[in-house]
Amino acid sequence: MFEVRLAPMCGITDYIFRTICYEQGCDLAYTEMISAMGYLCAPEQRATKELMIRGTDEPSLILQLFGRDPDIVAEAAGRITASGIYDGIDLNMGCPAKKIAPSGEGCGLMRTPKIAEQMMRRTVAASSVPVTVKMRLGYDRDHINVIDFARMAEDAGITSITVHGRTREQQYSGEADWEMIARVKQAVRIPVIGNGDLFTAEQAIRCQSASKTDGVMIGRGAMGNPWIFREVKARMEGREYRPVTNDERYSMMMRHYKDMLDCKPERIAVNEMRKHIGWYIKGMNGAAAFRAKINLTEKPEDTLALIRSFFEDQDGNDWEGENGDENKN
Ligand SMILES: Cc1cc2nc3c(=O)[nH]c(=O)nc-3n(C[C@H](O)[C@H](O)[C@H](O)COP(=O)(O)O)c2cc1C
Repeated sequence: MFEVRLAPMCGITDYIFRTICYEQGCDLAYTEMISAMGYLCAPEQRATKELMIRGTDEPSLILQLFGRDPDIVAEAAGRITASGIYDGIDLNMGCPAKKIAPSGEGCGLMRTPKIAEQMMRRTVAASSVPVTVKMRLGYDRDHINVIDFARMAEDAGITSITVHGRTREQQYSGEADWEMIARVKQAVRIPVIGNGDLFTAEQAIRCQSASKTDGVMIGRGAMGNPWIFREVKARMEGREYRPVTNDERYSMMMRHYKDMLDCKPERIAVNEMRKHIGWYIKGMNGAAAFRAKINLTEKPEDTLALIRSFFEDQDGNDWEGENGDENKN
């Protein structure tokens, strides 16, 4: 079955947003990345526990770990999977961040394949659930080793891999290289999930059919647009897709906000929702001015009232998509 997955994204893909994406047709989602060392040293720490929550309505969940020491990552995976809460462990070998990759974690592991291989083998041995790996094309353009890396993962017992079609050096610049992702797919027998720059359903379908991957993973394209999953599904299955209306957008934002307030401390919910609101209204009339107002509003009831009047003002105006007048305000 062709799968459409939600990418792990720190600070964005908490269980509340993942639940929304599942409702809209997402097949599989991941926790935000969790430090194996952080978990072992302080499993009861509030931030870690929060990242590990599996929402009651999440049909499945992969927990993503990062670290540099194979034994520590394997130990964390063994303890975490013993809980029976998660359907899989994903090893982060793609994070490009300055605090992560240069110190040998995340994409830094693509520079040390021997350590990466030990991490894969030991984590597979320690875990009671399937282990997957998320990787990039390589560390930089002179060291594109994704094909060898994917073969190594397959030999180590990894059950599927996700490839973000960029190097660490590129961070998020340039374009994801879907031709390389297609070559990885041809090089291994385990499922390959393609990732990078799928901002519309059309892009997702085009990249998947050109690369023949077993699925796609969508990150930034789902921010403010969880409906992208149902759109990809509908178009893949040849069903007609009805674009989301302003009423649906309004209801989703209100519901998202209320769920956040129910589950998180008010100050955190208000802060985190500012980002989501900005993404939900991207391209709508008056979006930029509205965003500025929301960023100054502290009380949830005031924000909810502002959202209501923003949508009332949209009445009679057609949804203008990405080319709305947001830059004119
Ligand atoms: C804000 C942000 C946070 C991210 N956090 C993670 C993470 O925790 N783990 C991970 O493997 N990738 C992380 N990523 C990378 C995404 O999973 C994905 O590979 C990348 O955004 C490319 O996909 P896209 O073009 O669909 O966004 C993050 C990306 C963004 C933008």
